[in-house]
Amino acid sequence: MNWQSIAKQSLGFFPTPLHLLPALSSQLAGPQIYIKRDDLSGLALGGNKVRKLEFLLGDALRQQANCIITAGAAQSNHCRQTAAAAAKLNLPCFLLLGGNAPSEAQGNVLLDKLFGAQIRWAGEQRKGEGIDVLEQQLRSEGLNPYVVPYGGSDAVGCLGFAAALEELLQQQSDVDEIIFASSSGASHAGLMLAKRYLQSTIKLRGINIDKANHAEQSFNQRIANLASASALRFGLKEAFAADEVCLDDAYLGEGYGILGDAEREAIMLLAQTEGILLDPVYTAKAMVGLIARVRQGCYSPQQKILFWHTGGAPALFAYSQQLLS
Ligand SMILES: Cc1ncc(COP(=O)(O)O)c(C=O)c1O
Repeated sequence: MNWQSIAKQSLGFFPTPLHLLPALSSQLAGPQIYIKRDDLSGLALGGNKVRKLEFLLGDALRQQANCIITAGAAQSNHCRQTAAAAAKLNLPCFLLLGGNAPSEAQGNVLLDKLFGAQIRWAGEQRKGEGIDVLEQQLRSEGLNPYVVPYGGSDAVGCLGFAAALEELLQQQSDVDEIIFASSSGASHAGLMLAKRYLQSTIKLRGINIDKANHAEQSFNQRIANLASASALRFGLKEAFAADEVCLDDAYLGEGYGILGDAEREAIMLLAQTEGILLDPVYTAKAMVGLIARVRQGCYSPQQKILFWHTGGAPALFAYSQQLLS
């Protein structure tokens, strides 16, 4: 894909490693399981958002923004990576986090503070509902903020994951299916865009980790719209339809951010077979989906299934009691 015309700010270390998980593959006795290590993307303890932020903050610099705003849940990995990227670029960062100020800063909240972010607590709202108000307030104070939407999911953010599929196919082109956690949708949409553009036959299976998305009838349509809008940024008039989106709702468990027995098992299994840390909110649920599908016999031993590790391990420290109970 030709990225020349698109503003981009280097923030992480790419390509991220891709390797086989021999012990996990042997323990589950199913297909060959590979992993793409975006948990090692380099900035601020890693994660998938670094890819989106390279394009989003490239766009912010192009627009001469002088501060960054974004939003998410209290333990948002996206907000932590945005705070780090803004710090690296010497831009003040304002975070709108769901919930109330905790008595002790743990996990991602601790890291947000170390990166110097200014945190506003948003109570029930964890998806950036108040972001416009904050933007107006900062504008009235004479600042020129760049708003990174919730999860970094807009047409620009998607480009990070379109580039990511191209990167993966250059590393290993014979993967049959990719399994990944899907939440705000741009990782999924970017992968769809690149799959179409590169005429790849790889199957994309997003694991929905948020019941709120499930309730939102139009979520598949939202992902398709993101892919279509992102294609336009790339100069392509490609339309994507909701029925092209493979979003698996079978592994929602108790809901967003709730750690159940299945997620605990997945975290322990990866830690104790491969020495790899999953996170409690996103990658644990995606791995629950992968494990369940292997156990159901969905794949043959010849198939190559890739788990896209999208990061998030810093949140483990905020879940220590639930993890060890
Ligand atoms: C660790 C982790 N995995 C997956 C996702 C989901 O990515 P997306 O929001 O692009 O669907 C997120 C989003 O916050 C995340 O933090």
